[in-house]
Amino acid sequence: MTTDRQKRIGIFDSGIGGLTVLRELYRQLPNESILYFGDTARLPYGTKTTEEILQFVDEIIGWLVKSGVKMVLMACNTSSALALEKAKSKFDIPILGLIVPGANAAVEQGKRIGVIATPATAASNAYRYAILDADASVQVWQVGCPYFVPLIEQNQLHDPYTYQIAEEYLTPLIQQQIDTLVYGCTHYPYLEPILRSLLPKSVNFIDPAVYLVKVAAKKLETMNLQNFNTPKPTKFVVSASPQKFADLSLQRLGYRPVVEAISLANLLEQSISI
Ligand code: DGL
Repeated sequence: MTTDRQKRIGIFDSGIGGLTVLRELYRQLPNESILYFGDTARLPYGTKTTEEILQFVDEIIGWLVKSGVKMVLMACNTSSALALEKAKSKFDIPILGLIVPGANAAVEQGKRIGVIATPATAASNAYRYAILDADASVQVWQVGCPYFVPLIEQNQLHDPYTYQIAEEYLTPLIQQQIDTLVYGCTHYPYLEPILRSLLPKSVNFIDPAVYLVKVAAKKLETMNLQNFNTPKPTKFVVSASPQKFADLSLQRLGYRPVVEAISLANLLEQSISI
């Protein structure tokens, strides 16, 4: 029998962005077993409406809960910005998002904070509010970056066009002389070499995944939900193109995961055995 401690943590993103959160889970919580859901049939999330995001998140968390996870981490800033509060009020398990942990970390590091995010996250102002809530004396600039996620999901990180687009997105932040840059989308840490080459060396980079997982670790401890046994291998489920997801993951994780597909219709109907 699986005890509560041995249950998996459910994490989800539109695609491979959540792997940057998974990587952090492996680093900080190596005993935890994970169920990863990538909503590849509906990516990108960052150009969808709030209503669509609310619906997607409701369906995914409903499925994760049915499948028996002990906690949910939104490994997606767009979902965290638009749907965290609603999800927390609906579901009866701990659900954590990236925005507040990322914002709190940012004000520890700087005073002139730039946030790069999807258009939906930037338009929601979730980072601006959370950062100013943590420290009203700092300044915040947000840039919506619609092309980044499609370029990353199409494996075009090394395309000169990606560099050109990054330069365009960062120009207003360079002009404001930011001292800190927040990755407001879990896909963006893959762009680190490009972004570092464009920004002054003194700029601090904040990956909210690091701080989300710290919060998750504390929560597991206070709820007596940490797993002390050997973890089960991570289970990967996507809503489309499992082969493509496995190929991209190989570059990001260093191993080619076994990836199952589930149709969106089945997501509503079925749980999986985990
Ligand atoms: N990686 C997600 C985020 O952090 C979603 C990006 C997208 O699908 O547009 O916002």
